[in-house]
Amino acid sequence: MNPNEPHNDQEIIVHDEEVEQLKQGLPKTMFLNKIELEKYQGFWYSFNTNMLKSILMFQRHFQARDTDLIIASFPKTGTTWLKSILYSVVNRFKHPIKQSPLFSNHPHELVCCLEYDIYRDAFEYPRPHHLNELPSPRLFHTHFPYMTLPESIKVSGCRILYITRNPLDTLVSMMYFAMKPIKELVGEDVELPSIEDYFEDFCEGKFINGPFFEHVIEYWKQSLEQPKKVLFLKYEDLKKDPILHLKRVGEFVGMPFTESEEREGVIKEIIEFCSINNLKELEGNKSGVINKIYDKKSYFRKGEVGDWTNHNITPAMVEKMKKLMQEKLEGTGLSFQLLPH
Ligand code: A3P
Repeated sequence: MNPNEPHNDQEIIVHDEEVEQLKQGLPKTMFLNKIELEKYQGFWYSFNTNMLKSILMFQRHFQARDTDLIIASFPKTGTTWLKSILYSVVNRFKHPIKQSPLFSNHPHELVCCLEYDIYRDAFEYPRPHHLNELPSPRLFHTHFPYMTLPESIKVSGCRILYITRNPLDTLVSMMYFAMKPIKELVGEDVELPSIEDYFEDFCEGKFINGPFFEHVIEYWKQSLEQPKKVLFLKYEDLKKDPILHLKRVGEFVGMPFTESEEREGVIKEIIEFCSINNLKELEGNKSGVINKIYDKKSYFRKGEVGDWTNHNITPAMVEKMKKLMQEKLEGTGLSFQLLPH
């Protein structure tokens, strides 16, 4: 199908007037005193683009297949890493590692974000049409909380792989990632937000796609209630025992590693290939941008557990975060590890 064909209104029906009206009624706040956020269905978004329209389009039009595999995550929790792992596990017979498309494509180009890439780009050309033509299993990603997902994801047999990470490393990672867009927004000469600014907003839940804990807890509960539907992974666990967690991924997606694959070192090969040091050196990840603004290489920074200790996070801030974790996670059975094992 020609991607430049005009939209088919039968399939894409979200009118600008409706979006504007909805937007006006949404609660608003400021993130880092610089970026306006709007609250939709209990979570914060930056709707200064066509984001709200793409959310509505995604919610109304996405038709999940039973075979779809969807990575879900809060930003900066290891999405890129899981994308490269999932892609490599699922495609290991079609594309052995030595011929992996990940050599020349960024993980975000191979596992597209439904709300940021597929439905937002639909304003430029109708990519959702192409979704019907993709071979199974289709691999997608979303930063949406569980409650905002389209109904067809919830009721179909498709599976969700959720990744999360300790909150302090998550907010430090966001601070680096947001530098470039914030500079573009406020100008080079204006002082950038400090780690305290990120910390305070994070604790108040005022973060893009936040509140963080509510995002995580929703998926955690679903993973307990529907273990075949939602696989819950933690960045720190993946770091500590990648073999175990790659096997979990293989089993969850219905492509378990065989003993002979294990003997031949297939799992280890995928782990090494998807390591941050390897990925950041690949051609596909060195230059260019994602979503018109984020440098491809900015998705690969340090990739360590406990990097927050290298930043100005005071003992009082750590105490506050620990208290918040206790309060939010009480009774859920979920915990976070702030330092390496
Ligand atoms: P840091 O900023 O702490 O280094 P996301 O992909 O959700 O945007 O998360 C980005 C974080 O994951 C960044 O963390 C990035 O460096 C880290 N990351 C990216 N690729 C990784 C990999 N292959 N292994 C471990 N961490 C990785």
